[in-house]
Amino acid sequence: METTRQLFIFTAAALLIYAGCASSAKQCSDCGNTTVPYPLSTSPTCGDQSYKVRCDAAAGGGTLVFDSLNNTYPITSINPSAQRFVIKPATLVSNATCVTSDLVHQGLQLNSSLPFNVTSSNTILYLNCTADLLRSPLNCSSSSLCHVYANYTRGVCANAPLCCTFRAGGSSTSYMIRVRESGCSAYTSFVNLDSSLGVDRWGQPGLEIQWVSPREPVCGSQVDCDDGGNSTCRLDPTESGVRRCFCNSPLVWDPIQGVCVKYCQDAQGCGKADKTALIAGLTSGLGATLFLAIIAILLYKRHRRIIEAQERLAKEREDILNASGGGRAAKLFTGKEIKKATHDFSKDLLLGAGGYGDVYKGFLQDGTVVAVKCAKLGNTKGTDQVLNEGLKHGGRGQLTWSHRLRIAHDAAEGWLILI
Ligand SMILES: *[C@@H]1O[C@H](CO)[C@@H](O)[C@H](O)[C@H]1NC(C)=O
Ligand SMILES: *[C@@H]1O[C@H](CO)[C@@H](O)[C@H](O)[C@H]1NC(C)=O
Ligand SMILES: *[C@@H]1O[C@H](CO)[C@@H](O)[C@H](O)[C@H]1NC(C)=O
Ligand SMILES: *[C@@H]1O[C@H](CO)[C@@H](O)[C@H](O)[C@H]1NC(C)=O
Ligand SMILES: *[C@@H]1O[C@H](CO)[C@@H](O)[C@H](O)[C@H]1NC(C)=O
Ligand SMILES: *[C@@H]1O[C@H](CO)[C@@H](O)[C@H](O)[C@H]1NC(C)=O
Ligand SMILES: *[C@@H]1O[C@H](CO)[C@@H](O)[C@H](O)[C@H]1NC(C)=O
Ligand SMILES: *[C@@H]1O[C@H](CO)[C@@H](O)[C@H](O)[C@H]1NC(C)=O
Ligand SMILES: *[C@@H]1O[C@H](CO)[C@@H](O)[C@H](O)[C@H]1NC(C)=O
Repeated sequence: METTRQLFIFTAAALLIYAGCASSAKQCSDCGNTTVPYPLSTSPTCGDQSYKVRCDAAAGGGTLVFDSLNNTYPITSINPSAQRFVIKPATLVSNATCVTSDLVHQGLQLNSSLPFNVTSSNTILYLNCTADLLRSPLNCSSSSLCHVYANYTRGVCANAPLCCTFRAGGSSTSYMIRVRESGCSAYTSFVNLDSSLGVDRWGQPGLEIQWVSPREPVCGSQVDCDDGGNSTCRLDPTESGVRRCFCNSPLVWDPIQGVCVKYCQDAQGCGKADKTALIAGLTSGLGATLFLAIIAILLYKRHRRIIEAQERLAKEREDILNASGGGRAAKLFTGKEIKKATHDFSKDLLLGAGGYGDVYKGFLQDGTVVAVKCAKLGNTKGTDQVLNEGLKHGGRGQLTWSHRLRIAHDAAEGWLILI
């Protein structure tokens, strides 16, 4: 009894897991030799249920077919990235009358609530039309392309006097290629027809249908979205009561592959875009590095130039001082040292005011008493004056010139010190 229960629970769990796997394996398996791309669905467990097509197993190994409202048409090719497929249009019921097999159902009619419509790549040739059609905007002239085709087939349609040609895809023909006895009784279609070519090179008739980009899959609960944590089952804000597996940021919905992917804008899928992004990333990365390197080099060179200029200036000044000091060595002091020596240019130490600046008494660290002449900022003439004055004083000096003459100057702040 207990074993049976356990077995039941195990089986139920296995079924649940299986259902989860089935819904996350979104693409349907091949139909015969035809790959069935997402969102096309051949069964309730794969694809998007709004995009139903059918795998007709009866037709020798499996043929993918498209069911319109009243008819079934074989799908001859699929272009998943363009979100289009081509169906084989209805053929003539017999070569005795110019009537296509879907006349009984008024031709091809799509359910406009479904995400399929007729593309504008189709050139539709209406055959065996009534005079009523002459009032339509279709090209029913004697030079119309349909005549070329009707004549080429040499079938019964060449005997029908009136035919018309038009390019599909207008609002009135997006969901319907209508045939009826009071209009035209037969039609055929060619995709991307190049009318400059001979009829024998038009290829097989085909009617192209496109599908609207599929939204995120509908879900009942998170189990339906179990795709490795890539999406979350949430209410769709645009459709009341509908829940969808919305991709978890930064992943985005790829309607071509039907999975959550890293951001890409490529209609061909994301592989190419990833490579482009990688190259772009590398290029911009290298570019940024190079840019920063150049900036750094320029800044470093500028810094070196300033330092060198300052050193050269200091050297020149020291040379001038040494030369004019009559063999006595000169020493340069920093602004900081001078500020310290004059107690930050304390009023108490002010000895007097000269024409080009004030003179302060100062004390160096080794106890030497000095006079500090403070030149006015930017006044180079003043600086020279102070220099010369200092040197002149150096001969007679009211200060004791037994000390060696020392002159210091801070280029940045314009301080000058005389001893
Ligand atoms: C599938 O392909 C094989 C080999 O290419 C071919 O022999 C077979 O006829 C094809 N079947 C259908 C249904 O197209
Ligand atoms: C169509 O007509 C040709 C002769 O023009 C005949 O040989 C052929 O059997 C006919 N086909 C059908 C399906 O009636
Ligand atoms: C044109 O279509 C009508 C039916 O609508 C049919 O009776 C007639 O035979 C067709 N004409 C030709 C030339 O096949
Ligand atoms: C086509 O199918 C729809 C619904 O399946 C039906 O209502 C309609 O009568 C059909 N039209 C024709 C002409 O058979
Ligand atoms: C058209 O499609 C909608 C949505 O799937 C469906 O509810 C409706 O019954 C369809 N109409 C016909 C006539 O089949
Ligand atoms: C009808 O089609 C033919 C062939 O493409 C073209 O030469 C002619 O100008 C068209 N007539 C009208 C009224 O569009
Ligand atoms: C119809 O076909 C015949 C021979 O196949 C050709 O001589 C004639 O010019 C064609 N007519 C038109 C309008 O294409
Ligand atoms: C046909 O489908 C395309 C997208 O697949 C859409 O952009 C277009 O608006 C549709 N046309 C009509 C008339 O609904
Ligand atoms: C989840 O997203 C990542 C990134 O795009 C992808 O590589 C992975 O295959 C996804 N997993 C599933 C189950 O879709």
